[in-house]
Amino acid sequence: MDVAAAPVTDVGARRVARPRRYVMTAPTFFTVEYAINPWMDPSAPVDTHRAVSQWEALRQTYLDLGHTVELVEPVAGLPDMVYAANGGMVVNGKAVVARFAHAERAGESVAYAAWMSRNGFHLADTRHANEGQGDLLLLGATILAGHGFRTDRRAHHEIAAHLGMPVVGLELVDPRFYHLDTALAVLDDTTIAYFPPAFADHSRATLSELFPDAIEVASSDAYALGLNVVSDGLDVVLPAAATGFADQLREAGFRPVGVELSELLKGGGSVKCCTLEVHP
Ligand code: ARG
Repeated sequence: MDVAAAPVTDVGARRVARPRRYVMTAPTFFTVEYAINPWMDPSAPVDTHRAVSQWEALRQTYLDLGHTVELVEPVAGLPDMVYAANGGMVVNGKAVVARFAHAERAGESVAYAAWMSRNGFHLADTRHANEGQGDLLLLGATILAGHGFRTDRRAHHEIAAHLGMPVVGLELVDPRFYHLDTALAVLDDTTIAYFPPAFADHSRATLSELFPDAIEVASSDAYALGLNVVSDGLDVVLPAAATGFADQLREAGFRPVGVELSELLKGGGSVKCCTLEVHP
């Protein structure tokens, strides 16, 4: 039989990568010197050089996949600045600047806002706490928005108004999954993966109604921060330890690309936390 004439039944055929624009900040000054989430233990040693080389490998992975990576200058004394996702929400020429829930990170807003205005985005602040793409995930033309630990529910309305986009609020209940991007991954404009126990019952109901075909991950993957991924619609860059989720992604036609970010896990973050996406 002529192989070329065989019908294409591979589920992967319907997944398409779109080139992306990412913003990252090197972990030059990364340490764990305070604890604002249960992953952080200031008494445990952190190898900053190792954090930098793991972060560098993540950046190289994006470049190899054909994406653009722009850099924000790290600031001494802001050890969590490597988690660029929290700097704000950037979409359609507009940017919402983060207002951090904890004083330790407040200074980061200034650095990210400077980058956003230098790059021509129309900036807005919120009166209530919002931690950018840690809690605000774009799915098609809708924003999925977490609340419960960091981002204040009242900020959701402010963000919807500034960006002119609908916001679906989702309540987080487990402190290990304190940001939406630790409990839910957007894989393309219509597909998500999530860890149901991280959400309040009413939000679980919302998710199963809106996304009957969502991938539900096992606790072993969720506890490796396996959902903290960056997807271009086909390639899904994820923590290497989340092997079960990688299999689920492959079955769904995505291409999992595992990376090792063990040092940055000590701050309670992984792939997505280190990546602010500039959405067109
Ligand atoms: N140590 C940081 C914090 O607790 C980690 C932030 C992780 N970022 C994220 N997008 N989930 O705020």
